[in-house]
Amino acid sequence: MPQRKLFVTTALPYANGKFHVGHIMEYIQADIWVRFQRMQGHMVHFVGADDAHGAPIMIAAEKAGKTPQQFVAEIAAGRKAYLDGFHVRFDNWHSTDSPENTELAQGIYRSLRDGGMIANRTIEQFYDPVKGMFLPDRYIKGECPVCHSKDQYGDACEVCSSVYSPTELINPYSTLTGAAPELRSSEHFFFKLSDPKVVEFLKQWTQDGKLQPEMARKASEWFDAGMADWDISREAPYFGIEIPDAPGKYFYVWLDAPVGYLASLKNHFDKGQAREHWHEPSRTPQSFDEFVADPAVEQVHFIGKDIVYFHTLFWPAMLQFSGRKTPAQVNVHGFITVSGEKMSKSRGTGIDPLKYLSIGMNPEWLRYYIAAKLNAKVEDVDFTAEDFMARVNADLIGKYINIASRAAGFVSKRFGGSLASPGPDGSALLRDLQGAARGLASLYDGRDYARALREIMALADKVNEYVDQNKPWELAKSDEQKARLHDVCTTCIEAFRLLTVYLKPVLPALAAQVEAFLGCPPLEFGDAGRLLGEGHAIGVYKHLMQRVDDKQLDLLFEPAVAAAEDAAPAAEVAGLPGGEAIADTITIDDFAKIDLRIARIVDCAKVEGSTKLLRLTLDAGEGRHRNVFSGIASAYRPEELVGKLTVLVANLAPRKMKFGISEGMVLAASHADDKSKPGIYVLEAATGATPGLRVR
Ligand code: 2FM
Ligand code: ZN
Repeated sequence: MPQRKLFVTTALPYANGKFHVGHIMEYIQADIWVRFQRMQGHMVHFVGADDAHGAPIMIAAEKAGKTPQQFVAEIAAGRKAYLDGFHVRFDNWHSTDSPENTELAQGIYRSLRDGGMIANRTIEQFYDPVKGMFLPDRYIKGECPVCHSKDQYGDACEVCSSVYSPTELINPYSTLTGAAPELRSSEHFFFKLSDPKVVEFLKQWTQDGKLQPEMARKASEWFDAGMADWDISREAPYFGIEIPDAPGKYFYVWLDAPVGYLASLKNHFDKGQAREHWHEPSRTPQSFDEFVADPAVEQVHFIGKDIVYFHTLFWPAMLQFSGRKTPAQVNVHGFITVSGEKMSKSRGTGIDPLKYLSIGMNPEWLRYYIAAKLNAKVEDVDFTAEDFMARVNADLIGKYINIASRAAGFVSKRFGGSLASPGPDGSALLRDLQGAARGLASLYDGRDYARALREIMALADKVNEYVDQNKPWELAKSDEQKARLHDVCTTCIEAFRLLTVYLKPVLPALAAQVEAFLGCPPLEFGDAGRLLGEGHAIGVYKHLMQRVDDKQLDLLFEPAVAAAEDAAPAAEVAGLPGGEAIADTITIDDFAKIDLRIARIVDCAKVEGSTKLLRLTLDAGEGRHRNVFSGIASAYRPEELVGKLTVLVANLAPRKMKFGISEGMVLAASHADDKSKPGIYVLEAATGATPGLRVR
């Protein structure tokens, strides 16, 4: 096969938070692919970077009393521990807040503009007069125009799921200052995505095999719905890249973010490191510009399913209409859930990757587990402790590692570490293993790691059957069987080496230990075509991998005592108990309008399709049950609540929600800033209270 030239990236993480296990999953997926391609002799540049720009980072930096540059640099400094820890080996890690990115993004913009692809339009947007800035939708809250729930975000209601524009909110306020926003107009720049030329190009580009079938289908749905022009500018103050010839205007973060892929690659080339990954050192390495223009180079992106629109529409269109090469593949993966729980982008899941490492869990267990669950489809991957333990202990260790531990001792002690040649049955087995190379290579290349590992484990099963049939421990008892023992153990070691070739993209550190033990140079995929051979001397076997202990998993999932370190400190200003001022005074008559009753939670269940809501079945002494939806799923497991007495707002007008009708509301306490001070506490009545009693 001719050598491929690959330029591989993973999505650039926002530089306002630590990595969560979702990031790690994506990096592991891409890293396995890259390692596999390298083992095939292909040339790969694999780069990442921090996505540094945008309003949220600017605001977070300001809250932390830092410049955005300082803020981003501190986050960036924390990346290495994760990447090294999980053996994710990027060739370069850079930042979108860099000279390379400024030059490239501005260059791409100029080409688009000069090619007539940019339109200027004046638009009206909310402006915070106190803060002196235009407000992104997520910083505007107000009352939902549909169901009248308070404190809903500017783009969608979390209670009734309606979607609207921020200008439709009732009594909108800025979440930055509390001020009522004003509508102001300003000139914005748009990339003309609705231009027939662009639509025509994208219709082709998305349908010619670069995307997974389900993503290609998604793209055609988007075309059917119609393409709108894309607003690529933001007004100062903004942490971003200035738009050429437009003072006070900046590129929207999503314009310069993917350009960051190229910027990191350029930085890599400029540092002179790109040469090291060139498999034909005799050939003159190309410059960055030559490389990215080279038709032979395949640009491959790994991303999550939440950012497909940007990568399959905006990004290829930007590249195409600025006269650049477009991606060869956009590989989309699903999310990682932990025991079925979807994670929040800001808080991550129950698995903290650094905690995982710090309690001594082996990073290659996670690499193996994630690989065993990943295929080429856009499906979510669920981590459960039991499944993790079973796959690692029973498959990885029980089936694979055990082959070496069952044979190596005999080879060292009885045969001075030297291998014999396998007998006919052993040779047949080894040929079987060798014959799998091609199929496994195509599974790795097609990102069906789950199937690759299933097939590798099926091969390991065959080897273990061979061991069980030949019982080296029995053979070792009689001197007459010495030659057979040597042959059987040789077969085991050769088989173990072949399995190691196949597992190496997933388990690089383990493979390095095996290479040292076997006394062989770094294994390439093609090495499956040969054996170590008679007379080859192996080293002394040292135990290669521990089993997972369930105590480690208990520790991993033990809730953190104080999550405070992660959370931005919420301003606990005097006079703002719980983060908000006491509301305006009401009279006792006002209060009497609210009919509060004691209610028993007779049943409680998760709501399918919602991560926030629980469905409570309440008995308020009325001789019937009420159904109430409550946004407390992040704080309670349903079974914790069943049987408790709580307080119900019994005369609240019933509300039709996406999931059914809610007949009232239960009382719960929370901090006004629920992002940095999470926690929801359902009110409970003291013992003795009974359903139906009025609270007054
Ligand atoms: O969704 C995100 O986390 C973005 N920071 C991804 C950017 S990918 C690329 F375009 F940079
Ligand atoms: Zn609503």
